Amino acid sequence: MKGIILHGGHGTRLRPLTHTGPKQLLPIANKPMSQYCVETLVNAGIIDIAFIIGGIGSDKVKDHYGNGEEFGAKFTYIKQDSPKGIAHAISLCEDFVNDEKFVVFLGDNIIQRKINEYVLDFKKSNASASLLLCEVDNPSQFGIAEIENNKIIKITEKPKNPSTNLAVTGIYFLTPYIFEVIEKLKPSWRDELEIADALQILVEEEKEIIYGMITDFWKDTGTPNDIIEANKIILENMPESFQGIKEENVIIKGKIIVGKGTTIKNGVKILGPTIIGKNCIIEGNTTIGGNTSIGGNSHLDGCNISDSIIMSNCTIKGKLNIQNSIIASNSKITKEENENLKKFLLGEGTQISL
Ligand code: DAU
Repeated sequence: MKGIILHGGHGTRLRPLTHTGPKQLLPIANKPMSQYCVETLVNAGIIDIAFIIGGIGSDKVKDHYGNGEEFGAKFTYIKQDSPKGIAHAISLCEDFVNDEKFVVFLGDNIIQRKINEYVLDFKKSNASASLLLCEVDNPSQFGIAEIENNKIIKITEKPKNPSTNLAVTGIYFLTPYIFEVIEKLKPSWRDELEIADALQILVEEEKEIIYGMITDFWKDTGTPNDIIEANKIILENMPESFQGIKEENVIIKGKIIVGKGTTIKNGVKILGPTIIGKNCIIEGNTTIGGNTSIGGNSHLDGCNISDSIIMSNCTIKGKLNIQNSIIASNSKITKEENENLKKFLLGEGTQISL
């Protein structure tokens, strides 16, 4: 069985974070979010994986993942010239799939459970598709499935008045028959070839579709709040480890993960769950956490940060309270004592609330 991970798309709701690269590479607990998809596939024995890439900074996907050796896998890159829909992206993989069953993973979907069992069930079955469904509070934002007598009877993309709250998550088990179905699709109101429409054709043709329910954690990280929420859940479930250097007068409460070469100086307080990457300096009575990720090579001095993601190479200095924030790599925020003047050098689409 082969795997496909989608790294294209618009990324508009995550601007300005997506001005420099694809959203699927934004870090959650200091790891690109799509790496969780890679690990889930590889763990299930799916090691021949294609990445659909397209849009701003798509070469960064290749730079990060390489040929797959490091992940015990083999990676292929397929370019999508513009984001014409998930079904369009899948249609580009016909040669890669080469008549095998395959799994498509949307690179911005995060789950915690393994998919090994679903892979085995789908391999054994005669089904044309297998879906993972999850109950959601906001069903009009997803592809939605209707079920009767344990059978999927309808799939609709983002219905205005959803009849159920069962979202179709972005992990699709498919057979090469889907390529014939995609050929029949017409672009939707958002001018995309919709995977939900392709699945609805399978329903209408009375093809067998099996499904499983995700009852623990699934997140489509479409918005900054979704990313902050996913960061929290992933951190809660990571094993703790401390490879840095800690001075005597440091308070640590809860589970923390600290990378090699990081120095935590006297007066610092860290509340778990928190991850701090490699080669950071944390000093000056800084308080970090909980639910916070600090990327490598960052320097924090005197600030208070919680429920946030600070990416690599950042400097944050001074009495600043930072909460529910995402700060991209190479950012610098400083506050001088007794200085009320605020100076900004901001990229396009930056959001600040003071
Ligand atoms: O997350 C699950 C939902 O994903 C499903 O319930 C919906 O049925 C499905 O349409 C999709 O909805 P979204 O509106 O969230 O899709 P989005 O445009 O965010 O794209 C999902 C992923 O696929 C994202 O990682 C970007 C990638 N993508 C998207 C398009 C449109 C591509 O690689 N190429 C594309 O052309």
